[in-house]
Amino acid sequence: MFGLFKKKTPLPTFAPLVTDMHCHLLPLVDDGSKSLEESLTVMEAMKETGFEEIRLTPHFATPRYPNDVNKIKNLYQKFCDDVEANKGERNLPRIVSLTGEFRIDDGFKGYADRNELLTYHFADPKRGSEKGLLLIEFSLNQRRMGLEDIVYQCQLDGYDIILAHPERYPYFGSHSKLLEQFKEQGVYFQSNILSLDGFYGEEAQHKAFEYLENGWVEFLGTDMHNVVYGEALRRASTNKKIIKLLETTEFENRNLATSINNVSNDNQ
Ligand SMILES: [Fe+2]
Repeated sequence: MFGLFKKKTPLPTFAPLVTDMHCHLLPLVDDGSKSLEESLTVMEAMKETGFEEIRLTPHFATPRYPNDVNKIKNLYQKFCDDVEANKGERNLPRIVSLTGEFRIDDGFKGYADRNELLTYHFADPKRGSEKGLLLIEFSLNQRRMGLEDIVYQCQLDGYDIILAHPERYPYFGSHSKLLEQFKEQGVYFQSNILSLDGFYGEEAQHKAFEYLENGWVEFLGTDMHNVVYGEALRRASTNKKIIKLLETTEFENRNLATSINNVSNDNQ
């Protein structure tokens, strides 16, 4: 009888997103996780805060992380197997695909020319381009000359573009003309959840909320790197402003196609 009036347990904060589409949990390939154990610990935090799925996005950035795509695909398969074999009783999100975070730098053209850009797709086959959604980032220090031309060329080549964490580039202000231009030409924006909680400082936090208010942000990502980020994600999940945002705004994360543990399906 009393059960009828029992208060429903609220869903974890990030449950409405369903899927995270930006994290660096493939051990030892970039500045992300340093071990399988570290990845498992971060994945526990992700599941606890509401993520059912994660998509791995190692850096492809020259010269710091000039990762070889085929090598990364093999490491991804091994990682999926290792997680299954070692997760024990841990409650973890499903690993659904491998893509990448491609930096617009001296190595980018090589990946593009070799047709090695790993992309996501929307679940609805009527949405998006055939080549899929490509997650790109820019240098965090210096604006590269002509980056707008490279982005536009990618669009002409048939990719949909997602710009990772626009709020984190110090050379883009609150009223950036270039970001406005990107939105006009259909570039998607993905903000970092931790930016909203002040993890990268006040300026990034301020811009993240401002871009959201402009209606510029279609995706949210965790950009998880290590256990420090995992703890920060737990803290962010208790931030009232973030909780409210997730309750009132719909993001595109949940509309991405799922291809469980299969590199090729998401990257045809
Ligand atoms: Fe990242």
